[in-house]
Amino acid sequence: MKRNDTERTISFSPPDMSELEERQVVDALRSGWITTGPRVKKLEHLLAQFVGVNDGMEDGNIEKVAADPSLVCLNSATASEEMIFRVLGVGPGDEVIVPAYTYTSSAAAAIHVGAKVVFIDSQPESLEMDYEKMREAITPRTKAIVPVDLGGVPCDYDKIYEVVTDPEIRKMFLPLEADESDDDLTKLGSRIQKKLGRVAIVADGAHALGASRFVTRSSADPEGENDRKEKKMVGSLADFTSFSFHAVKNFTTAEGGAASWSLPFVVNRILTKEEIEQGEVSNAEIYHWFQLLSLHGQSKDALAKTQLGAWEYDIIAPLYKCNMTDIMGGIGLAQLERYPGLLARRRKIIAKYDAACDELGVEHIVHFTNDYTSSGHLYITRITGCDDTQRRSIITKMAERGVATNVHYKPLPMMTGYKRIGWNIEDFPNAYQLFSNEITLPLHTKLSDEDVDYVINVFLETVREVRGY
Ligand SMILES: Cc1ncc(COP(=O)(O)O)c(C=O)c1O
Repeated sequence: MKRNDTERTISFSPPDMSELEERQVVDALRSGWITTGPRVKKLEHLLAQFVGVNDGMEDGNIEKVAADPSLVCLNSATASEEMIFRVLGVGPGDEVIVPAYTYTSSAAAAIHVGAKVVFIDSQPESLEMDYEKMREAITPRTKAIVPVDLGGVPCDYDKIYEVVTDPEIRKMFLPLEADESDDDLTKLGSRIQKKLGRVAIVADGAHALGASRFVTRSSADPEGENDRKEKKMVGSLADFTSFSFHAVKNFTTAEGGAASWSLPFVVNRILTKEEIEQGEVSNAEIYHWFQLLSLHGQSKDALAKTQLGAWEYDIIAPLYKCNMTDIMGGIGLAQLERYPGLLARRRKIIAKYDAACDELGVEHIVHFTNDYTSSGHLYITRITGCDDTQRRSIITKMAERGVATNVHYKPLPMMTGYKRIGWNIEDFPNAYQLFSNEITLPLHTKLSDEDVDYVINVFLETVREVRGY
């Protein structure tokens, strides 16, 4: 990373790959099986265990796989969120609530299934959406809310569940009716919606693998009947969660993602026809539908078809293609082994950035409190009193000294594609304010201590120069 003694080149978020990942990739390549297979399956069980959902293993032992996990690995977070909506039966005529201050895929996945996105402004001084406005936006058409655990910080799920379980809000909820339908997926969505009996929480945990929060309410206890704070990992806070393993994420498989579900009413055995008619839902059924959705609706996956003589398969519907390959699965297994160490290193860098921002009087994302532990994905700062022009100047000057920064996020109502659907940033003043003076510092595990000191030094000097303090 060194250019000379005083100048360095700091990239924004390079992947952290070691010999462990290299070995996994080579092993996958040499194994004769490179698409979805044993590595992906193993990763699903281990990730399910990591995020605290049903892992399908006896005694948490990967050698003793007994059932399907409540997590499926796919090729992106976007596909994961979209497939979640399809399993949940969200589609045309439905509304999905999404914060305006996020990346496009939080909203695009809902649009892909034909639902209408309803954007919510941010709180004045927080990256989370305004929960009062979220409550006001719920209508009988609302099927899901997509909280975004931005930068790795889990949202306030106590507040979110308090709203969706409020009897007045619950009363409005109209679950999908599928009595006349002969489509098994629609029927599954209808059964899940009826069992939930309320708006579903479909978290965008793209940034937040490994994050956790102490809550009284979560998917396991939405009404907070227990009245006891419990630590829950992102993945088991919401009803459904999507994760991203894209190249810039803390945990990467180059591209990739996962969908997890935490539905206490789900039964861990095969159901009888009568039980299904009575509205019961099994974990195996949800898992199986994610497989079908991600692999053309083909009744057998490629591995099953390689069994001698087992050539015949059916296509139960012309579905989608977004499965994870075993090469990616192998990278994921190595990353998971290294992940505790990677998270710990991020925490150390964050402590240094926090001290520097506090010294400078710059606001910053708070990654660690008594209430939550972030995955430490993004180091979001807000340069107090700075306008968009000064912010751009700081970014350029830092780039001239070799430090790549970024902006998270330009709110979606400012983007052409969303303006075309009729959204206007003037209706989201808090999101605009958050954006206008935001700068994200490089935060990744390829940074040496000297790199971190260099970033801090360049940041302090540049902000002081541009802001005149
Ligand atoms: C908040 C958020 N959600 C979803 C995604 C989509 O992830 P993927 O590229 O894996 O689809 C991203 C990607 O950066 C993101 O930042």
